[in-house]
Amino acid sequence: MKVAIIGAGNVGKALAGSAVKAGHSVAITATSAHKAEEAAKATHARAARSNQEAVKDAELVILAVPADKVDEVVGALSSDLDGKVVIDVTNRVNPQDPGKVLDGTSTAERIQRRVPKAHVMKALNYAFSVRHANPSVDGTRLDGFVAGDNKAAKEKALAFVESIGFRPVDAGPLAMSRALEGMAMLIISLQIRNGWPWQNGWKLVGPPKD
Ligand SMILES: NC(=O)c1ccc[n+]([C@@H]2O[C@H](COP(=O)([O-])OP(=O)(O)OC[C@H]3O[C@@H](n4cnc5c(N)ncnc54)[C@H](OP(=O)(O)O)[C@@H]3O)[C@@H](O)[C@H]2O)c1
Repeated sequence: MKVAIIGAGNVGKALAGSAVKAGHSVAITATSAHKAEEAAKATHARAARSNQEAVKDAELVILAVPADKVDEVVGALSSDLDGKVVIDVTNRVNPQDPGKVLDGTSTAERIQRRVPKAHVMKALNYAFSVRHANPSVDGTRLDGFVAGDNKAAKEKALAFVESIGFRPVDAGPLAMSRALEGMAMLIISLQIRNGWPWQNGWKLVGPPKD
């Protein structure tokens, strides 16, 4: 697949590495051209000069920017995202006051309203970047939940998460992004409260076996 990754931080870089290894053609961008070039060099992706250029030929776009930049990034791209699969990896994080984040809304649904002709999917936000690079723990393949409304786009997003090593799990309609965002808030606050090393991942046990 032709993949554009917006954001070249922990997540952008890890996903670029995994996606290139899986055989995808990857363009990556950041605010600073230098950061994008550095990430591209480390992962064998291509650095794009702008978000517009990155998404131009992409069929799948990954939003890996801080949550407070989402509106700016999506607003500027706007119709450039029409018809594309957009995976929202972002999380609002507030460990001190989680209720502010677990407020019955989701960023993914907000993005979908903003770009109604794009196919927004929530996925991979519940996994730490170390797991984006290696989605296996003690030989167990972690689950890669994908929530979204468009069937064909969801198949593409599920194929992508599987290609980088997750077990693909259809998590239902985009409204389920509220749960996936809650799972991220939970796994993050567990690390902070218990001093865990940011290595866990999510796995449903029981049938069907994987
Ligand atoms: N870290 C994790 O393990 C993890 C796991 C799952 C989900 N998430 C979520 O994924 C998102 C990214 O996390 P991260 O840890 O990768 O953050 P990060 O290391 O701070 O990286 C953010 C990246 O976004 C880029 N960026 C900011 N504004 C941009 C814009 N307007 N256009 C293009 N790029 C822009 C930054 O560019 P510069 O480099 O030039 O500043 C940077 O490369 C967050 O929403 C986070 O909550 C994180």
